[in-house]
Amino acid sequence: ETSKRTERIEAALEELGDDVVILGHNYQRQEIVEHADFIGDSYQLSKEAANADAEYVIFGGVTFMAESADIITDDDQTVILPSMEASCPMAGMAEALQVDSAWAEITAAAPDANIIPITYMNSYADLKAFCASQGGLVCTSSNAHKAFEYAFEKGDKVLFLPDKHLGENTAHRMGMEDAIAEWDPWDPEGKAAAEVAESDIILWDGYCQVHERFTTDHIEQVRDANPDAQVIVHPECRREVVEAADKAGSTATICETIETADPGETWAIGTEIHLTEHLKRWHPEVNVLPLCGDACMDCNAMRQIDPNYLTWVLEELVAGRERNVIEVAPEEKELAGLALERMLEI
Ligand code: 13P
Ligand code: SF4
Repeated sequence: ETSKRTERIEAALEELGDDVVILGHNYQRQEIVEHADFIGDSYQLSKEAANADAEYVIFGGVTFMAESADIITDDDQTVILPSMEASCPMAGMAEALQVDSAWAEITAAAPDANIIPITYMNSYADLKAFCASQGGLVCTSSNAHKAFEYAFEKGDKVLFLPDKHLGENTAHRMGMEDAIAEWDPWDPEGKAAAEVAESDIILWDGYCQVHERFTTDHIEQVRDANPDAQVIVHPECRREVVEAADKAGSTATICETIETADPGETWAIGTEIHLTEHLKRWHPEVNVLPLCGDACMDCNAMRQIDPNYLTWVLEELVAGRERNVIEVAPEEKELAGLALERMLEI
């Protein structure tokens, strides 16, 4: 049975026609993804935003994704985020001002090195602009290793922000696990500078509060209860969790793994719970399990995109009013765009 709200969303979309495209991240709830024209991971959605012709791009996701969409789309296109409260806590863990002062210390610690900063997509536009200004770029979890290769062709050290776990997992994937240092902004023992001088990969101390909660105990428990289960986790998980899993990859890789699984296979998924729930619905032939019971692993930033807000922004557009427009400051747009272009090219 169609709810009143669904009817209102559909009626508004009918009215707006080709003027609107809805992009939905894999972590959005069912009532959002069922209205999305495209569902995907951060990388796929940035490509869809770049290809979109619609005047309005409605982003079912978090602020940094909507900012990136604004940078990538044409000037006459408008990006709308149904809730202005949808901010990823990890993106807030590396503020451009903070990074600016750390950069001075990090570069002073290795004065002869050419350090290339790489920021994960999960960061704000001013940090992306900073990275471009220093010869660096953006990456997502699906292309972090390629961004590292790009950086090591241009320079001799990488500063990776903000996600230390993705940074560490990528270093392992590249066989560079012995070359890692974690930047400590407080550095009570004065060791940070020496570590920077000795290491090729410097990690910022940020993390995702959803993925950091997965532990190797969860993997053991799921394997004990389901001896045939294979485990796939997102590379924002801790190193030991990625190591204990059978496979790790972006949300698109997780989707692909379940899409291509043989009927009857069992997969336990270590990522935000809404994606696990979608995959259960979309692929009933596969036995899909959440890695950590049903209870937790819910991203409160993604959850801010409530279907009632989607209804509101669409109905306001029908009435000729633009609400919750995401606009990156012009002084950051060009450089942040360069950091994103470099990613789209690798
Ligand atoms: P993906 O790029 O794998 O979709 O992950 C993004 C993410 O964690 C968004 O929070
Ligand atoms: Fe940010 Fe983690 Fe939520 Fe992704 S799942 S938006 S990284 S807090």
